[in-house]
Amino acid sequence: MSMLMGKSRMVITCAKGITPFLKEEVFSLGLPILSEGIADIETEGTMEDAIKLNLFLRTGHRVLFLLEEFNAKKPDELYKKMWRINWEDTIPEEGYLCVTSSVETPTIKDSRFANLKCKDAIVDRIKEKCSCRPDSGPKRDSTVIHLYWKDERCQIYVDTSGEPLSRRGYRRIPLRAPMQETLAAAVILATGWKGNGNFVNPMCGSGTLAIEAAMIALNKAPGLLRNNYGFMHLKGFNESYWKALRKNAKGAAKSRLNGRIIATDISQEAIEAAKKNATTAGVTHLIEFGVCGYSETPVPEDGGIVVLNPEYGERLGEIEELKEVYKGIGDFFKKRCQGYRGYIFTPHPLKPCFLGQGYRGASKYLSQSKRRVLTRGAGFTGNFDLAKKVGLKTKRRIPFFNSNIECRLLEYDLYEGTRKRKAHS
Ligand SMILES: C[S@@+](CC[C@H](N)C(=O)[O-])C[C@H]1O[C@@H](n2cnc3c(N)ncnc32)[C@H](O)[C@@H]1O
Repeated sequence: MSMLMGKSRMVITCAKGITPFLKEEVFSLGLPILSEGIADIETEGTMEDAIKLNLFLRTGHRVLFLLEEFNAKKPDELYKKMWRINWEDTIPEEGYLCVTSSVETPTIKDSRFANLKCKDAIVDRIKEKCSCRPDSGPKRDSTVIHLYWKDERCQIYVDTSGEPLSRRGYRRIPLRAPMQETLAAAVILATGWKGNGNFVNPMCGSGTLAIEAAMIALNKAPGLLRNNYGFMHLKGFNESYWKALRKNAKGAAKSRLNGRIIATDISQEAIEAAKKNATTAGVTHLIEFGVCGYSETPVPEDGGIVVLNPEYGERLGEIEELKEVYKGIGDFFKKRCQGYRGYIFTPHPLKPCFLGQGYRGASKYLSQSKRRVLTRGAGFTGNFDLAKKVGLKTKRRIPFFNSNIECRLLEYDLYEGTRKRKAHS
C-alpha cells in the first residue's frame, strides 16, 4: 500500500509567532491541532486534507505529510533505512527530486550531507526497482522530501507544498521591505477585518496588505493563484479531487465588496508595482490606488480599518525622521480616522542583542541556517519606542515577527471624541 494512503500526522510551518492565526485556520478547515510550536503546528489527516490545506491556508508556509519514522545514529544507517522505503511507489522515476532537512544530531555537522545521503538512498532504490532514476537538485518545484533528524530520531516527510505557500505568485515586483504575503494575511486576520466596512492602507508599498485584504473580503482561496504544488509530483496524485476542490473554491468566492479598499503611497513607483501585483492577483478592480502622502489618503466616512506599515529606520537620522512620521500618523488618526480602528505595524523597541531570546525553540522543521538566524535575532538597530510619538493610547500590542525582527501591531480605537477625552484626561 502506498505510504500516501490513509491518515498521517502533518506538520504545518509558518512565520515565527503567527501560529495563533494558523491554528484558527486549520481548525476551521475541520482538522485537529495535535501540538504547536513557535513556528509550526501539528495536525492529522489524509493527503486530500493536505491538498485542501495548500489551497486554503493564508498563514501557513509548508504542509509536511509524515511518511516514515525510524531511529538512526549515523549517516550510513540513515542511508540504509531510507533505502528500505518503497520510494518507487511514491516518487515518479522520471521526475525531479529535492531533499530538504532540519538536522540536530551529533554525527552531522552540515545538514547538506544528510540531504545527500537521503537523496542517494532514494535514487539508488528507484534505479534498482525501475531501471531509471529521477533527477535531483535544489529546485523545489517538483517532488520535495523533508528529513527531520533530532538526536537519533528521523522523521521523513513529503513536502506537499513544494515552494512555500507564502509565494502566492502575484508579487512580481516586490520593492523595498515588502511584507511577506502570509504575514500580511495574519496581520489582517488580527485586525478582525472580514470585508465589512472600509480598509484604508496608506504607505501601501507593493500592496501586499491591500491585496490580501481583498482576497480575504472575497473569500478567495489564496492557493487559486498558484498552479504548481509538491503534491502534484507524487504517484497517485488525486487530480480529480484537486480540480473539484479548485472549482468549489472558485464558486465560493464573492465578486463584490461591502466596503472600499483604499491603498496609497507617496511613491509613484510603489503604486505602479502595487497595481501590477493586484492585477496578477485578480483584485485590481477592487482596490482604489492613489499616489499621496499618508495624511492625504481619502478616508470614507462610514468607518472600518486603517493600517499603516511605515519604514523601520535603522540609522539614527532615520529614527529621528520616523519620530515625526509617527507623530503625524497620530494626528492623521485623530483628525481624519474617527470611527475607525487604527493599526500600525512597527518594530518592537528592543536592543538587537535581546531580539529572538526566548524563542530558542524556533521551528524544528526549519533548516539549520534559518533556525540559527531566527534564534539569534538581528537586523533592527533602533530601540526607541516610536509608538510613544503617536500620542494615543494603544488598546493592544499584538506580537509578530517580520523575518527576524520582532514587531508589534499596535491597535487604536479611534472613536468619535478621542481627542477631547484625551485632552481632559
Ligand atoms: C515598509 S514600506 C511598506 C511595505 C508594504 N507593507 C509592502 O508589503 O510592500 C513603507 C512604505 O511607506 C511609503 N512612505 C514613506 N513615507 C511616506 C509618506 N510620508 N507618505 C506615504 N507613504 C510613505 C514608502 O514609499 C514605502 O512604500
